[in-house]
Amino acid sequence: MPSEERHSVLDSTVPGSIDDLDALRAYLGTCTRCPLGTTRTKLVFGVGDPHARLMFIGEAPGRNEDLQGEPFVGAAGKLLDELLASIGLERSAVYIANVLKCRPPQNRDPLAEEIATCTPFLAEQVRLIAPDVIATLGNFATKYVLGTDQGITRLRGRLFHVDGRSVIPIFHPAVALYDRSKTEVLFEDFQRLKTVLDRASDLSAPSRDGSREDLGHEGAVDQPTLF
Ligand code: URA
Repeated sequence: MPSEERHSVLDSTVPGSIDDLDALRAYLGTCTRCPLGTTRTKLVFGVGDPHARLMFIGEAPGRNEDLQGEPFVGAAGKLLDELLASIGLERSAVYIANVLKCRPPQNRDPLAEEIATCTPFLAEQVRLIAPDVIATLGNFATKYVLGTDQGITRLRGRLFHVDGRSVIPIFHPAVALYDRSKTEVLFEDFQRLKTVLDRASDLSAPSRDGSREDLGHEGAVDQPTLF
């Protein structure tokens, strides 16, 4: 999907008068902009520090999140908390959101139309929070933020810049629940994330032209502006 298209969705969906997260949440209301609005229990808006320097973007609420209205509260969330603790952070110090705000039935993959309908609000959250660093958890978040078709396995461990923000793709914590070999990789990538976060305030004039830094892996992707 071309970035221009996403920008036009953003522009036409979210009124310019929205200037904080509470107003954005109120604007979403009891959202039924896509069919997931009729099958979800609770809309999962996002949680954390509204001025966080680090924002995580996951895929979509699962069963526990749908029931509680908060992202990453199930088994994957427990691992996320451990990963955060490994770099000296608590959940309350970061912001956590998802590509989709409502649970897809049976945890199926998000559909393109759902992503197109929901992500303008995520883009607005990114604009309002203005994090220095975004960690994309898994394929869907990474593909959305980087505007790429490349998978997380190729992109993890590398650092990108999108609209002046550092973006670091990381495996979704849920993969480690069924593939234990990914646990070590996740902890390693969180150490990289800490390095990026520590350096973020030192980065001069953030790149808006899609440049990237490599954290040790080969390859490149195109990086359209998004937020
Ligand atoms: N997986 C996600 O991607 N997000 C959640 O909130 C929970 C599980």
